[in-house]
Order: sequence, then C-alpha cells, then structure tokens
Amino acid sequence: MILCARGLEKTYGRTPALAGADFAIDAGEVVALMGPSGSGKSTLLHCIAGIITPDAGTVEYDGRELSAMGDVERSALRRTDFGFVFQFGQLVPELSCRENVALPLRLDGTSRKVAEARADELLESLEVAGVAKQRPGTVSGGEGQRVAVARALVTNPRVLFADEPTGALDSLNGERVMELLTGAARDRNTAVVLVTHETRVAAYSDREIVVRDGRTRDLVSS
Ligand SMILES: Nc1ncnc2c1ncn2[C@@H]1O[C@H](COP(=O)(O)OP(=O)(O)OP(=O)(O)O)[C@@H](O)[C@H]1O
Ligand SMILES: [Mg+2]
Repeated sequence: MILCARGLEKTYGRTPALAGADFAIDAGEVVALMGPSGSGKSTLLHCIAGIITPDAGTVEYDGRELSAMGDVERSALRRTDFGFVFQFGQLVPELSCRENVALPLRLDGTSRKVAEARADELLESLEVAGVAKQRPGTVSGGEGQRVAVARALVTNPRVLFADEPTGALDSLNGERVMELLTGAARDRNTAVVLVTHETRVAAYSDREIVVRDGRTRDLVSS
C-alpha cells in the first residue's frame, strides 16, 4: 500500500465535505473516485495529496504520516513523488508545450538539455510530439490534456492525481487521453487516483470507490 487514508473529516464553514472517508491504493494501481457533484471527491483528492489538511483522520504515504511533516517537507514530497492533472490542463501559456513538460524538472534543477530531452520522450509516447514547439493556446483540448499528462509524469511520480482529466473533452478524445494516461502510468508502475463523473472513464480503472455525502464505499470493478 503506497497511500492510505482513514477516517478523513473536513468541514468548510458549516458544510461537511468529508465525513469519515477512507482510501487506499497500491503502487501501480488505478483507482477511480466516483460520485455526484458536491459529494467530496475533490476534497478527498486534495487531502490525500497533501494539498489541504483534514480536520480529522490520517493520511499515510509510503509509511509516513503527511500531517506529521512540515509544510516545506510536504511540498517537496508533492514535487518529487506526486504528479497532478486537472480538468483544464493549466499549462503555462507563455511557454511552448515542450517547455511546459520540462518545467517540473527545470524547477528541480535539471539542465535544460536533459529536461527537454525527457519532455520530448514523453510527448512522443503520448502521441503529441508534433506540438512540442507550439504554445498551449494553439493546440486542441485533447492535445493540451496529453501535454498536461506528460508534464505530470515527467518527474516519474509514484502517484498521479487526476481530477476530471477528461472533463473538458468530447468522449472520443477523453477515451484516448485515458488510454494514454493509464498506459503511461502502468509502464512506470505509477499509482493513479482518478476523479471522474463518467463510468466510461472509470472503466479504465482497476477499482472504483464511490464517494457520497463525504463518505466512501468500495466497489469491485471488472
Ligand atoms: N473551498 C471551499 N469552501 C467552501 N466549501 C467548499 C470548498 N470546497 C468544497 N466545498 C464544499 O464541500 C463539498 C464537497 O466539495 P467537493 O469539491 O469535494 O465535491 P466534488 O465531489 O469534487 O464535486 P464536483 O463533482 O462538482 O467537482 C461541497 O458541498 C462543496 O460546496
Ligand atoms: Mg470536484
């Protein structure tokens, strides 16, 4: 078990977002978080990724309790061990797609040459090598999401968090992105936590967890 959470609670003002949620994922496993809008999926994702601190409960990554770490240590961990893909890719508009993918490595001190070579490899494996020199504003939604997936994988994270990564795409593009995302993750033994509304997208997971009213329930899929 690489990442494991128990009894998570989180309240925003008077709104209970999590009310005793549990979560666990193995290395290399793909888990989908499903459930209605407002049920607490994003809040759960942000808690297990160490982005927000729950009011109660524990999150353990690789045997270490996240809340026991300092902010600096936790953000370093997010940078080195975790990758993130969001609904709208959130690429830097002023940089080329290649520079966007290379960015996490550059921020960690990797030379431009090495970082961009690595970026090119990933763009190639996600079938968007052709847009390497373009700025994100000039590529399609599906291409942009593949670039965002490449950027999330460039540091070889052990866990990839994806919140509605295909939410802005039509179903054909969405499926292609999911195929490439899960394929690339499996090649690297990266665990994937995937938030989605769509059963079609969840079908790419090994296991589904349903979130309802801030609580989790495991479903065994396919
Ligand atoms: N920053 C915040 N401030 C106040 N309330 C919040 C905040 N974030 C989430 N909430 C509330 O917490 C509950 C859970 O929200 P969350 O974003 O986790 O749901 P979700 O399952 O991701 O929904 P969606 O599918 O629409 O993205 C909702 O009632 C939401 O309004
Ligand atoms: Mg959400």
